[in-house]
Amino acid sequence: MGKDVIVACDFPSKEQVFQFLDKFHDEKPYVKIGMELFYAEGPEIVREIKKRGHRIFLDLKLHDIPNTVKKAMHSLSVLDVDMVNLHAAGTTAMMEAALEGLTREDGTRPLLIAVTQLTSTNQESMERDLLIYKPINEVVMHYAKTARDAGLDGVVCSPLESATVHDACGKGFLTVTPGVRFAGGDVGDQKRVMTPAQAKEIGSDYIVVGRPITGADDPVAAYRRCVEEFIG
Ligand code: C5P
Repeated sequence: MGKDVIVACDFPSKEQVFQFLDKFHDEKPYVKIGMELFYAEGPEIVREIKKRGHRIFLDLKLHDIPNTVKKAMHSLSVLDVDMVNLHAAGTTAMMEAALEGLTREDGTRPLLIAVTQLTSTNQESMERDLLIYKPINEVVMHYAKTARDAGLDGVVCSPLESATVHDACGKGFLTVTPGVRFAGGDVGDQKRVMTPAQAKEIGSDYIVVGRPITGADDPVAAYRRCVEEFIG
């Protein structure tokens, strides 16, 4: 299980994602497929990208009753993706069921990562809408530990939280971190960002990078720069 750069392929259609991936000749980036592309194109898009030799993080953030999540995870496992995720808020029973559903007959399975509190949730909205009154950092760390105890492989978190998550949950518990920008680059709508080099320094296991690569004039050069800074 190694450090890697995951490219967030936030494109609305198959044509656009292939136009982007066709630029890569020498490397096969690990790609993240989210709800936008998956719901537009269906599971076939996963099969096609997989056939081209890419590893895939399917970012669908499952959250439902344990039995439904178990069955849905089985379908994703058959799709042969490499990493999937769910909301830790679905509880330990849901996370354990997800692991069961994901595990193939030969014992292998995709990595399973938890979302703790979305970064779009803040202290105020968490208290007002979810009636959770603990400090949000404590809530995030509690969800991370719950995910670890359920047997999951890691969490999606800010690179700023990677060190704390590793301290609380162990070095082997993976941190998958978006919010990465090149020094001096356009921050866009991300609020708290780190460079790939800083994310490496703080111990992130995977960085998820979208627009700094997909929106670059030369996406291949931007990807290489990211790999160079993060993996070296
Ligand atoms: O373009 P950018 O590098 O900001 O893309 C980051 C990716 O990570 C997007 O797909 C975004 O939805 C995802 N993400 C995030 N922050 C989170 C969780 C996921 O930016 N907390």
